[in-house]
Amino acid sequence: MKIIHCKDYDDMSKKAAAMFFSQIHMKPDSVLGLATGSTPIGTYKQLIKWYEEGDLDFSEVKSVNLDEYVGLDGTNDQSYRYFMNENLFNHVNINKDNTNVPNGKAEDMDAEALRYEALIKSLGGIDMQLLGIGNNGHIGFNEPSDAFDSITHEVKLTESTIQANARFFETMDDVPKTAISMGIGTIMKAKKIVLIANGPKKADIIYETCFGPITPNVPASALQLHPDVTIIVDDEAYATIL
Ligand code: F6R
Repeated sequence: MKIIHCKDYDDMSKKAAAMFFSQIHMKPDSVLGLATGSTPIGTYKQLIKWYEEGDLDFSEVKSVNLDEYVGLDGTNDQSYRYFMNENLFNHVNINKDNTNVPNGKAEDMDAEALRYEALIKSLGGIDMQLLGIGNNGHIGFNEPSDAFDSITHEVKLTESTIQANARFFETMDDVPKTAISMGIGTIMKAKKIVLIANGPKKADIIYETCFGPITPNVPASALQLHPDVTIIVDDEAYATIL
């Protein structure tokens, strides 16, 4: 595990974007694993900037996202497909047909999970996977549990996540109760992994992820077993490593 200490969110975003910049330059038809959430927004902004300046070409890039809410389609502004369109895909020359997010509207989620796994395999696997991390160590929607979830699967959202999301929906019935997520095994098969984290709330979990025991109670701790992981953290998330 390589840990890169950055001075602030901007610096973290630029360094993470630089890794994707060189990945795309070295392999223009790279398969990128992408994440949603607040952490990667700055990374995507930097990639868009380099694209606008003519320094980056996404025309051959393919992407697979980590996760999606079950029940939401891409037109719903709370869906992860919508997020990706808004924060990256609409602003660069990626072919949308080459961008993949699990289908939250699939009738059979088990079949969708298998389809998604097969899709990643058919693309030749993920060249570089971007990850954020939850305060409890979750990556994708792989929450702390008694065993590592291996492949793409449907996940029950915790009551606290459902409650926290409620404000974005008109009625409680509209709030997603489950999601579909790559498993830890899917993520671990990526050739390179870049995990980004910022802010003081992430400091303890970054320490546990890097130096704690490898346990499904801290799903991100599995990354210690991966041969090519770069953790890029700002000064506040680095605090407990000092
Ligand atoms: C998003 C995802 C999640 C987030 C995590 C951190 O696709 O897979 O695991 O990366 O919840 O979210 P933020 O970046 O909002 O702190």
